[in-house]
Amino acid sequence: MSVTINWAQCHTRPVLMIPGPTELPFPVIQALNAPPTIQYDRFFDEQVLEPITLGLRDVFQTAGEVILMPGSGRTALEAGALSVIEPGDRALVVGAGQFGLLMREIMNRVGADWTEFPVEWGARLDLDRLQKEAERVRPKAITLVHNETSTGTTYPAAEVGKIARSVGALFLLDTVSSIAGLDVQTDAWGVDLNMTGSQKCLAAPLGLALVGVSPRAWEAMERRRTPARSWAYDLLRWKEWWIPASRGGKVPDGAPRRQPVSMPTHLTAAMGAAVRLILEEGLPHRFRRHEVAATALRRGVAAMGLEMFPDPTILSNTVSSIRTPKGVEPAAVVARMRDQYGILIGTGLDKIRTTTIRIGTMGLTASPQYVLPTLGALELALRDLGYKCEPGAGVAAAQAAFADAG
Ligand SMILES: Cc1ncc(COP(=O)(O)O)c(C=O)c1O
Repeated sequence: MSVTINWAQCHTRPVLMIPGPTELPFPVIQALNAPPTIQYDRFFDEQVLEPITLGLRDVFQTAGEVILMPGSGRTALEAGALSVIEPGDRALVVGAGQFGLLMREIMNRVGADWTEFPVEWGARLDLDRLQKEAERVRPKAITLVHNETSTGTTYPAAEVGKIARSVGALFLLDTVSSIAGLDVQTDAWGVDLNMTGSQKCLAAPLGLALVGVSPRAWEAMERRRTPARSWAYDLLRWKEWWIPASRGGKVPDGAPRRQPVSMPTHLTAAMGAAVRLILEEGLPHRFRRHEVAATALRRGVAAMGLEMFPDPTILSNTVSSIRTPKGVEPAAVVARMRDQYGILIGTGLDKIRTTTIRIGTMGLTASPQYVLPTLGALELALRDLGYKCEPGAGVAAAQAAFADAG
């Protein structure tokens, strides 16, 4: 009797090689498996929340505060925007992909007088032109997506921070797919609002938004002519309710903080485990790990005869955007890899949805343990769909890259 094998049948879930949500380290999963605690309990405040907020400062490379709230990356972006922007304030939005467009829409909703600085998808950012545009527009804020997850590109946030400073603008940075995977130097780069989510390179569950806030951003909030329109997500309220007096807030030192939104205790505990693991690993090691894993993935992809989508000088080390071979539908590759080989990758987004696939190397998955099987499954899936390359070429090239990195 001949049997066609479905390799994914024995798995109870696909391995998440999408660019987030990503795989969770075991201690993070364990932190979710506990009886409920009470969010306003003193123990939770002192033993869970406070160490996390302090640990997150190291992860964000800031001496300022990192606010943690229920939500996702978009919550952080919206909370940041609505807290510093008043209707009619000018904002210059760098739009280099789907998530730059998201920031533009958020600016629209908070009533900003926004100007878009469009960048062709996958292309480099022209810093000289941006400088001139910033001088022309004189915005209150400049926004940038550090790592465009839609195109697999990383933009020069430090340089954009300098431009923002040169025109006296606040610098709002989306680090949803970069924080804890790429070097993000909040203070050194002059980032005023560092806005991100829990579920990508931090390797924590989806469900928390994080915002690092600079003293300049607090001042901008304090100088507002009108209060922010949101009750729950006004960061100034968080400052008053959340931050101890000795660190500039209004919570008497030693007293428990109040919560503008009740904190999800399980997700917070899991974030605590994730932060502990990141700091135990050390940031330089973590960034290098992401760099080597993404390099190996790219070498593997090249050996299979596939091309990367973006300009080769701005390739992201956390998400790889790869062109599919002519005649092979990205959605078919994703379905085949998931259904037959148990590995989930993503298609491109919006206008590159039908020409690219995306693979994440984020947190736990930035390692040979995940990259090598993914390349193997990609090769098999492409073969099933009619695209032939040397069997094992991708895995061999990636293996060599890992070996070279020592
Ligand atoms: C760069 C970037 N910004 C914003 C978002 C939106 O974040 P979330 O899905 O957590 O709301 C994403 C999600 O993929 C992203 O990659």
